[in-house]
Amino acid sequence: MKEGIELVRDLSPDLPEVHADPSQLNQVLVNLVINAVQAMPSGGRLTLRTLRDKDHVSLIVEDTGTGMDGEVLKKSTPHSLRRRMWDKGLAWACPSSMEL
Ligand SMILES: Nc1ncnc2c1ncn2[C@@H]1O[C@H](COP(=O)(O)OP(=O)(O)O)[C@@H](O)[C@H]1O
Ligand SMILES: [Mg+2]
Repeated sequence: MKEGIELVRDLSPDLPEVHADPSQLNQVLVNLVINAVQAMPSGGRLTLRTLRDKDHVSLIVEDTGTGMDGEVLKKSTPHSLRRRMWDKGLAWACPSSMEL
């Protein structure tokens, strides 16, 4: 891990089996981690989190970096998702990004 970046793993111990293409999942994860690291040029905390919520599983990549302003966010996600994220004050949600 890049200097000054603390990696936190917050992984749920009881996740069900997920039907997904491992190489695509890997690619999404790598891209999100690279983005997160780029957003923390002077260090910070990168958290990889998995959650189980009723009938779905979430994989969350969280950083303590610069965040996204409205313009960047507008370009990054489809309108409905953007609206929900904006309403909830979220900068980015990894599982949703896989459907883009
Ligand atoms: N974790 C993040 N924190 C802050 N801004 C981000 C993050 N991830 C992406 N961005 C912003 O969104 C833009 C688009 O990201 P991306 O689709 O990965 O394209 P690129 O990395 O080629 O610019 C980035 O240039 C950056 O401004
Ligand atoms: Mg990027």
